Amino acid sequence: MKNIVLFASGSGSNVENIVHYFQENSEVNICAVLTNKTQAKVLDRCNKLKINGLYFNRNAFYESDCVLEILKTFKPDLIVLAGFLWKIPENLIANFPDKIVNIHPALLPKFGGKGMYGKYVHEAVKANNETETGITIHYVNENYDEGAVIRQVKTSVSLDDTPDSIAKKIHELEYEYFPKVIAQLLEVE
Ligand code: GRF
Repeated sequence: MKNIVLFASGSGSNVENIVHYFQENSEVNICAVLTNKTQAKVLDRCNKLKINGLYFNRNAFYESDCVLEILKTFKPDLIVLAGFLWKIPENLIANFPDKIVNIHPALLPKFGGKGMYGKYVHEAVKANNETETGITIHYVNENYDEGAVIRQVKTSVSLDDTPDSIAKKIHELEYEYFPKVIAQLLEVE
């Protein structure tokens, strides 16, 4: 059995997509979704999907080993950040080396780093007159968006694209590729 723990701070459409993708896979267990936002829509999705949803605050994440100890109980084979906006603390990186992955909605190292998430990324891509953008799935280290790249998938950006139309293209790539890359990393099909 391969155990996955997901982290999310917002809507959780990627979380829902990943849960659906592995729903019929008896080798994969989605242990829980952890969030740092009490009002995150991802918690509503967990209720609907009948997936464990756990909220934690800054103290539990940065000032104590609370989240670390909870994670250890799941014995995760992969920790997946799917729209999680906080930097990962050293204790998690040290305890789960090369087991934490993130998806970023741009072609890192471009348009990454603190504050570069969601619409801000697509607005920057548009403002920069980029002719392409895409997704980056990467390992997580102690800095935002700097770990080793696992997979990048590109899409074109045309002059009549808007940040919203770019976001739509990016979400389509995320939904298609993120679960497949997770399955490859876990060596399950
Ligand atoms: C996605 O665009 C992902 O690339 C980024 O955060 C967003 C999460 O969207 N890391 P959702 O919450 O999964 O809808």
